[in-house]
Amino acid sequence: MAALKILVIPGSLRTGSFNARLAAVAAKELALLDVQVTLISLADYPLPIYDGDLEARSGPPDAAYDLKRMIASHHGVLIVTPEYNSSVPPLLKNAIDWATRARDRNETLGQAFRDRAFAIAAASGGKFGGLRALMALRQILALGCGATVIPKQMALSFADQAFDEMDRLKEPGDAEMLRGTLRQLIDVAQQMM
Ligand SMILES: Cc1cc2nc3c(=O)[nH]c(=O)nc-3n(C[C@H](O)[C@H](O)[C@H](O)COP(=O)(O)O)c2cc1C
Repeated sequence: MAALKILVIPGSLRTGSFNARLAAVAAKELALLDVQVTLISLADYPLPIYDGDLEARSGPPDAAYDLKRMIASHHGVLIVTPEYNSSVPPLLKNAIDWATRARDRNETLGQAFRDRAFAIAAASGGKFGGLRALMALRQILALGCGATVIPKQMALSFADQAFDEMDRLKEPGDAEMLRGTLRQLIDVAQQMM
């Protein structure tokens, strides 16, 4: 069987981002589980705020196609989101919105989202660990995009104290929550291959 490929997308560009750090831990963990991992930064997919007039004039920007094709070339996707005002940050929502508008030939709108498994994770300095952003992201992906979003998810609370000096998760409970989420993502992605 071909190697399982998982894409990891952090939803923050901030220097020292907790979510980018959690995404990096997840990518390492996936590699240990024999998965072919790609960890990207949304900085490499610069996109204007979605504007229907812009799309009507010139179609989705190249970066929207690049991101959609990146998603489509993997069997599963892990999105690691910050929580902004109890929801997902505009960077991530905008990237998802544009990616759902980029359609290659012989493809229906948003097909890349429907054909593969998604897992979601969040990190926040607060005690809920971005739980409300996870609820919003689950709704966007499952209801909005028709994606298969696995039931397990990772919410990292008190993220400012959660990493050790090697950027590993300090608490065994956090590491176990992440591992459980990744294992389920692998299982479901394999079933959908
Ligand atoms: C506009 C804004 C709104 C925020 N709202 C929340 C929130 O609702 N819940 C929360 O836990 N943290 C909230 N935060 C704090 C972020 O979780 C925190 O800045 C976090 O470090 C962002 O993720 P990052 O470290 O990956 O960049 C907010 C931050 C900003 C800038």
